[in-house]
Amino acid sequence: MVCLGNICRSPLADGLLRDKIQLNNLQIEVDSCGTSGHHAGQQPNERMMETALSHGYDLSALRARQFETADFKKFDLIYVMDSSNYNNVIRLATSEADKQKVKLFLNELYPEKNRAVPDPYYGGSQGFEDVYDLVDKATDLIIEKLK
Ligand code: 4NP
Repeated sequence: MVCLGNICRSPLADGLLRDKIQLNNLQIEVDSCGTSGHHAGQQPNERMMETALSHGYDLSALRARQFETADFKKFDLIYVMDSSNYNNVIRLATSEADKQKVKLFLNELYPEKNRAVPDPYYGGSQGFEDVYDLVDKATDLIIEKLK
């Protein structure tokens, strides 16, 4: 799960998937990171953690890190939150197989629409709820697909 800062959108997707993977007894490793290293080492954004916790998901153990080329080897699927993240990740790919792993996260919910998960960082609390709703729905669909 990849976004820009790895403090809002991708840690939410990461946290929800971790819980849903466990609930479904699946053996899948999930992680998240940002294309920027600006927030590396930080906990998820306070408002994102509060929103997640109000829905029963604890993101407090997660720490931000930057996407690295080794992630192409380590993971089979790389979900990005918007087209800017997509371009930044694709730029680091070294093969066609690497590129094929990179998918726009919201295409799971809205196939082929190439929609972005809006960045809630600079907005109000409704933005965080809206992101939660999108990420909850898309992660449900990802789980169904991987079952
Ligand atoms: P995220 O949100 O990409 O969903 O983690 C952002 C967090 C921080 C910044 C940008 C986006 N920032 O510019 O600091």
